[in-house]
Amino acid sequence: MTGLPLLKKKYFMLNTLVRLNQALEDRTQKDILRRLKPPDKGIDFYSNDYLGFTQNVLLQEMLLKEINKQPYLLKGATGSRLISGNTDFMMEAEAFLAKKHGVESALLLPSGYLANMAFFSSIPQHGDTVLMDEFVHRSVRDGARLSPARRLKFAHNDLNHLEKLLKEVKGSCFIAVESLYSMEGDFAPLEELTELANRYQACLIVDEAHAFGVFGYGLVAKKNLQKKIFATVVTYGKALGMHGAAILSNQTTISYLVNFSSPVIYTTGSNDLHAMSIKKGYDFMEHNSTPAQNLQNNIREFRRIGLPTLSDAQSPIQTLPIPGISAAKKLQRHLMSKRFLTFAAVSPTVKEGEERLRICLHAFNSKEEINQLTNIIRDFI
Ligand SMILES: Cc1ncc(COP(=O)(O)O)c(C=O)c1O
Repeated sequence: MTGLPLLKKKYFMLNTLVRLNQALEDRTQKDILRRLKPPDKGIDFYSNDYLGFTQNVLLQEMLLKEINKQPYLLKGATGSRLISGNTDFMMEAEAFLAKKHGVESALLLPSGYLANMAFFSSIPQHGDTVLMDEFVHRSVRDGARLSPARRLKFAHNDLNHLEKLLKEVKGSCFIAVESLYSMEGDFAPLEELTELANRYQACLIVDEAHAFGVFGYGLVAKKNLQKKIFATVVTYGKALGMHGAAILSNQTTISYLVNFSSPVIYTTGSNDLHAMSIKKGYDFMEHNSTPAQNLQNNIREFRRIGLPTLSDAQSPIQTLPIPGISAAKKLQRHLMSKRFLTFAAVSPTVKEGEERLRICLHAFNSKEEINQLTNIIRDFI
């Protein structure tokens, strides 16, 4: 390419870079520029390692023993699961998960983000509607955006608003909620949602990312609702301290995903290490209930101090409303200067004006750490 076309192409490239730079500059000005930084050093009140499993030497030894016994667990899958990348190990793990959760079928994916993308991009069709809680995770919203279905939001945990929409919509309807909301730390009214979904013949899909492990196999299992719910997404990158996710549903839905869902079809399968770790993680969790009890004791200790939190009394996620980007960031940085690692959730992660400090409690936090943290916050706000 020579002359004018080349010049034109260079102009567009330059123009693109100017645009990208402007967007980044805008974020820098607002103090919301995201950066990949080395791990922080300090006391963890921000990770999703609720039960401390990532630091558990016994669990690590258990996994190492398996790897030593079967080194082929480490090999790559060699292709899509639909070509050369499926294994007996993976299928056994899925059968194990289906049995544990009392569903017909389970499908493992490399992450919760991909699980929600896989489901919501492929199952809702033209003429269908996806009704999403306004605070449902981005992965659900991104997935639904790729589907041809209509998308509507209902006010957070507002059953009246949801019912009003259910009365209006035509075609198949999908309701997307989280059992424990990641930025609010409050629970969905699962029994009422299930009843409403069944009354209107809608499919309820529950994302259990933050409840799995903290409450056994999740709140759907705890409330014995699995059979009444269309599908559940459980993730393993949080309380289980690993990675990956499973979609739990009926055989038809899982088979449909295998046939029509791009994130399942057009990607190399996970390796067997992934499946083995998850299976062992379930065993470990079943035989080690102390971390979940310690976590609840720590949540109680945090709540005893009476900070103005938006969250539920049993939630490991406790959020304090600190409106304004600079106020929320200031508190987070102040805590960091004292070695306490928390997360300032600011827009665009949350709505403008609804900024907050998000504190994640863990089984391994000491009472002293919790008291120090809350004292610093109380003096600051
Ligand atoms: C509610 C919810 N769903 C799904 C995900 C995505 O899960 P993963 O981190 O495994 O991709 C997250 C992660 O932040 C989440 O909070």
